[in-house]
Amino acid sequence: MSRAGLPHLFSPARIGALELANRLVMAPMATDFADGDGSVSAKLVDYLRARAQGGVGLIIAEVSGVDARHPYTPRGLGLWSDELVHAYRRLTDAVHAHGARIMPQIAHPGPDSLAPLLTGLEAVGPSAGVPNSLTRTLCREITLEEIEEAKGLFAEAARRAREAGCDGIELHAAHAYLLVGSFLSALRNRRTDRYGGCAEDRLLFALEVLAAIRARVGGDFPIVLRISADELVHGGRDLRETLYLAPRLEAAGVDAFHVSCGSYPALSWRVIPPTGTPLGLNTAFAAALKRAVQVPVLVVGRINDPRLAEDVLARGEADLVVMGRALLADPQLANKAREGRFEEIAPCIGCGLGCVAAREQGGDMTCLVNPEVGREGEGLLEPASRPKKVLVAGAGPAGLMAAWTAARRGHEVSLFEREDRPGGLYNLAAVAEGKQELTRVVQYLSGQAARAGVRLVTGREVDAAVLEEEAPEAIIVATGGEPCVPELPGAGGSNQLCAADVLGGRVPRPAGRVLVAGGGTVGCEVAELLAAHGYQSAEVLVVEKREAVAAGMFHEARVLLLERLAARGVRLLTGARLREFTPDGAVVEREGGTERLRGFDWIVLALGARPRDPLGAEARKLGIAVRVVGDAREPRRALEAIAEGFEAGRVV
Ligand SMILES: Cc1cc2nc3c(=O)[nH]c(=O)nc-3n(C[C@H](O)[C@H](O)[C@H](O)COP(=O)(O)O)c2cc1C
Repeated sequence: MSRAGLPHLFSPARIGALELANRLVMAPMATDFADGDGSVSAKLVDYLRARAQGGVGLIIAEVSGVDARHPYTPRGLGLWSDELVHAYRRLTDAVHAHGARIMPQIAHPGPDSLAPLLTGLEAVGPSAGVPNSLTRTLCREITLEEIEEAKGLFAEAARRAREAGCDGIELHAAHAYLLVGSFLSALRNRRTDRYGGCAEDRLLFALEVLAAIRARVGGDFPIVLRISADELVHGGRDLRETLYLAPRLEAAGVDAFHVSCGSYPALSWRVIPPTGTPLGLNTAFAAALKRAVQVPVLVVGRINDPRLAEDVLARGEADLVVMGRALLADPQLANKAREGRFEEIAPCIGCGLGCVAAREQGGDMTCLVNPEVGREGEGLLEPASRPKKVLVAGAGPAGLMAAWTAARRGHEVSLFEREDRPGGLYNLAAVAEGKQELTRVVQYLSGQAARAGVRLVTGREVDAAVLEEEAPEAIIVATGGEPCVPELPGAGGSNQLCAADVLGGRVPRPAGRVLVAGGGTVGCEVAELLAAHGYQSAEVLVVEKREAVAAGMFHEARVLLLERLAARGVRLLTGARLREFTPDGAVVEREGGTERLRGFDWIVLALGARPRDPLGAEARKLGIAVRVVGDAREPRRALEAIAEGFEAGRVV
């Protein structure tokens, strides 16, 4: 398909005086890639350069703090001092070199400041008592003097952005969050002076910040305002109120509105919507706002495909489309879309595992389908110095990624899969409710592997005969895991089923009362399926040894899963260690005593997997170089499996 296939997306646009080559905008996403002092790092430049090179029209860089005393993230960006301007310019130059434009997102974290943790200062908010879930402290009320000071900090940060060559700024006022967003929302603003009260009073701080910025940067420097069109929480701002306020913000000099929805922390899944949530979930809100203002409207939120972006624009729901995670998944998304190479675009499935959860768990930002995130400048994929015959055993996500990566580097790769199709256990993960889009990962990786010349052989397990026939010089074992059957008294009973068999439809869905042994993600998702309307499970109980079920999931996805389990009446028994299976249930150890769980018709085992590597030893005996990746090495999530497959393909 030619450019004409997406005529709206690839038409030029304007924000104030700023001209943009197309209507695809990258969303602000905190990466923690900056240097610890708030300055732009080489890593951040490489990461955003890749997105500019990939063809987006505008990049809204992540939060740039206005006050050094109040960090938003531990290694966030700053525009709080003139000393940071020089390094920032390296970023704007790199982006401009590829024809894209860039704006920083300017913010003071307010109640969401990490100061109590990092600098020992109290956080400040419109009103005292806003809890911060990270620091576990309450903010104090910002004083009138501090309000004056804050306005100056915003204005100075905007001036520095201009000096650094930025093409405008985005002012963060969304999600009932950070300082400006908190003032705007009745959820957090309970002031009784002129900055609080009715909607217009709560608007005052934003208007004054805008005026201070305008006074410092002039009238021609574009200002985008990010706002929750609807906070969607009882007591928060609704769409009607936003429609009332928007023309006032426009009159105060806002050049474009960037529409998100939801609020922190009460409705955070609406801010970063996980797998299974509706695509383009803010577009109707953007369309409403567009009718209320004259300036362009940008819309964000689960627009993960350029064809959907085109549809949003063609319907007139917004003037520009903003993508966040989709551009982590594939920095080349825009170029590929322009060339009609849609099937080559790495799909964002909204898993949140690499971009959000990994950071929260102390790791670096990454992406399930793109382990190169944050490593763009490392020259990871060198052509092989000598092309080799590489055999990959197992075409689950790890094996597919390993095979594709090795083939990209010029190796001659054969990929063997014992089933009749690629995907491995990931095909089962996609059976859970709302997770069908996971299949896109397998389709994408299979397609990329095929296009790179990988020979896929299905229906054949690698054994000694295959090794002899193929005579590979290197082997990557990605044979996955097999379900754990616990060595407990009573295990193996005829009413005991494996979660994988239930998900795979290999056994009839158990009816009656079901005990699910194991409350990891799989256990909870099987329970959800069994408790769905229309099936006959009268009761589902999940038994988990840890204190929490579905630990390790992306928080926002977990919140929704727990809500659905509760709505379907699934009972959760945590801190309960299985000791024995009985014909109608199990015995568990809990709170120092034992409990007998009785009256169950079926027991579904979701106790994880153990590595399955039938090949490594055999291959090593033949003196072939072997790498074991994914669940075959240690059962974990697809995030780790794919990253390991990539690493193996990269160094083989
Ligand atoms: C890792 C990550 C970091 C984010 N950081 C910010 C941020 O600094 N400022 C902000 O306004 N939104 C932030 N967001 C929200 C995104 O800008 C965007 O609104 C959200 O991801 C939904 O868009 P998407 O579905 O296209 O990813 C972040 C989202 C992610 C995934």
